[in-house]
Amino acid sequence: MCGIVGSVSTKTNIIPILLNGLKTLEYRGYDSAGISYLKDGNLTINKVKGRVQDLENNIEKNSFSNIGIAHTRWATHGKVSETNAHPHNVGHITIVHNGIIENFNKLKHKLEEKGYQFKTQADTEIAAGLLDYYYKKYENIDKAIQKFMKKVDGSYAICMLIDNDPNTIYVIKKDSPLIIGQSQDVNYIASDVPAILKYTKNYYILEDYEYGKVTNNNIEIYNKEGNLLKKELKEYHGSDLTSDKGLYEHYMLKEIMEQNTTIRKTINPYINNIKDLLKMPDLTKYERIDIIACGTAMHAGLIAKYLFEQYTNTKCEVFLASEYRYQNNFLNNKVLSIFISQSGETADTLAALKKVKEENCDSLGIVNVKESSIARAIDKVLYTEAGTEIAVASTKAYTAQVALLSVLVLAHAYRTKSIKEEKILNILEEFRSITSILNPILEDTKTYENIAKEIYEKNDVFYIGRGLDYALAMEGSLKLKEISYIHSEAYAAGELKHGTISLITKDTPVFSSATNKHINTKTISNLKEVISRGAKCYLITDEDIKDDNIKVIKIKKVSMFLKPLLTIIPYQLIAYYTAKLKGCDIDKPRNLAKSVTVE
Ligand code: G6P
Repeated sequence: MCGIVGSVSTKTNIIPILLNGLKTLEYRGYDSAGISYLKDGNLTINKVKGRVQDLENNIEKNSFSNIGIAHTRWATHGKVSETNAHPHNVGHITIVHNGIIENFNKLKHKLEEKGYQFKTQADTEIAAGLLDYYYKKYENIDKAIQKFMKKVDGSYAICMLIDNDPNTIYVIKKDSPLIIGQSQDVNYIASDVPAILKYTKNYYILEDYEYGKVTNNNIEIYNKEGNLLKKELKEYHGSDLTSDKGLYEHYMLKEIMEQNTTIRKTINPYINNIKDLLKMPDLTKYERIDIIACGTAMHAGLIAKYLFEQYTNTKCEVFLASEYRYQNNFLNNKVLSIFISQSGETADTLAALKKVKEENCDSLGIVNVKESSIARAIDKVLYTEAGTEIAVASTKAYTAQVALLSVLVLAHAYRTKSIKEEKILNILEEFRSITSILNPILEDTKTYENIAKEIYEKNDVFYIGRGLDYALAMEGSLKLKEISYIHSEAYAAGELKHGTISLITKDTPVFSSATNKHINTKTISNLKEVISRGAKCYLITDEDIKDDNIKVIKIKKVSMFLKPLLTIIPYQLIAYYTAKLKGCDIDKPRNLAKSVTVE
C-alpha cells in the first residue's frame, strides 16, 4: 500500500535514492507513483499512473537534486489517475501523505471560502492546502504544523517540501508509520524501514502527534506543543529485502516452495526437546484468548482457536480487527489478546492493539516483519521467520503463523497437562520432520496443474469443510479469488444446504478437505449432496477414500497440530496454477495491497 520516501543530502543526488526506495516498497501494492524535488529553488513534480519504472522513464536523464520526496499511492479518495497521485502541491507546500484525512470535505469548504481552488479529488491536496494556509497566516512553520495537527481528523504520515525553504524536509505523523533514517551527509524519511536499508540501518521512529525537521546534517523531532524531543536512535536488526525470485517464474511459487524451510525456521527454537516448549509465553493465568487479525492472518487465528479449544480447553475467540476496534470486547486481566500480522503495519490491527493497550490488558504479537509498528507497540512479540514475503497473496507467512501458533498451543497443553507427555513428544517429532512430510505435497505439482486446467474457466468455485477444515476452506477460497479473480466462497460443510447449494449446477467445482476422523463422514455426506446436484468434487484427505465422483488428493496421516500445514499447500498451488492459466498478474493482483495501512 502507499509508500513514502524522502531524502536530503549535501552532495549526493537523491533522485536515484528515492526511486530505489519506492522500488523496494513496490511489492506492497500501489497504482500510481510520484516524485518531487527542488533544484536551485525550482520545484519539479513528476507523477504517473502505473509503475515506478514508468516514473523513472519519465524523469529526464541526468536530473539532479539534493532534496526530494516520493510516493507510491493506493487509491482511497479519488480514482486512480496521474492527477490524484502524490505529491500534491498547493501554494508553497508540496506533500506526500499516507493515511486518510477524514474531515477533508469540511476543511475543503473552509479553504475554498478563503479562496483556495483544488484540482484533484484527493484528500491529500486539502492537507497541502491547509498547511499552506497556516504557513502563510503565521509565517512560522512550527505554528502551522501544530495548528494543522489540531484541525485534522484521521491518519497521516506526511513528508513535506516548502519551495522557499530549500534545505529542509518536514515530517508530521499520526496513526500512520514514519521513520527518519540517519547517515553521514544524507538523511532519509520513509514509511517503512526497508525503503532505506540500502543506505542506513539507523533511524528514529516518529510517534503520534510528533513532527520533524530534516536537513542533510541535522534531525530535529518535536512534540505537538513544539518542544524539541530527545529521541532514541534505533538500529535495524532484521534481514533486508534482498530476496529474488531465483529460478521461479513468480514470487508466489517461490514462497510456496520454501515453506518447509520457513516453517522449520520459525518453530525451531521450541521443538528440539519437550522443555523447549517452556520458552513459549506462559498462558496459564488467562481464562480466555482473543485473537485479532485481518485477512489471511485472521484465517491463521481460526486454526489456533480450534487447537486451543479442542486440546487445552481454553476459550478462544477470533475477531476481524476492523470489527474488533468498534465493538465491546469484554476485556479484563484474565484475557490475553493475540495479534497476528505478517507486515506488522495493518492499520486496523494496529488500532485494535491500541484499544487493548488503553484497557491495560495483556497482548502478544505473532509478527513477521521485525521492528514493525505492531512489533514495537505490543507487550510481547513472537516472530515468524518467513523472511520477506513479496507476493501479495500470503502463503509462507500464513504457514509460519499457523506453525508458531500450533506450537504455542502445544506449549500451553504441556503446561496445563491437557495432552499426555508421550503424545506431545510424538507431535514434536513430527514437527522436526516437517520438511520430509511437506516435500511430497510440494512436489506433486502435476496434480495441481491438472486440477487448474479443469477449473480455470469456471465462474464460481466453492470450498467447504468442518472444524479445522472450514478454516482451511476459507483460506483456500481467499487464495483462489485474490489471484485468479474467480468468484469463490467458503462454507461450513453443513451450512451449504441452507441457501448456497442453490448455486451448485453441473460441473461447479467444490473443494473440500476432510482431516478429522470424527467428522469426515459428515463432510463426505455433504459432498454427496453437491455431487447429486452436478458438482465436480475435489477432496484433500488423509483417509483412504475411493469414490468415482471425487478426485482425492491424499496427504500423510499426522497429528491435528500439523494437518493444516499439509492441507493448505494443495489449495495454494491450485490457486497459483489456475491464475497462471488465466494469465493473471499473480504477484501483484489487481486492487490488492500487501500491507493495508488505511482503515
Ligand atoms: C492484506 C494482504 C493479505 C493479508 C492482510 C493482513 O489484505 O493482502 O495477504 O493477510 O492484509 O495483513 P497482515 O500484514 O496484517 O498480516
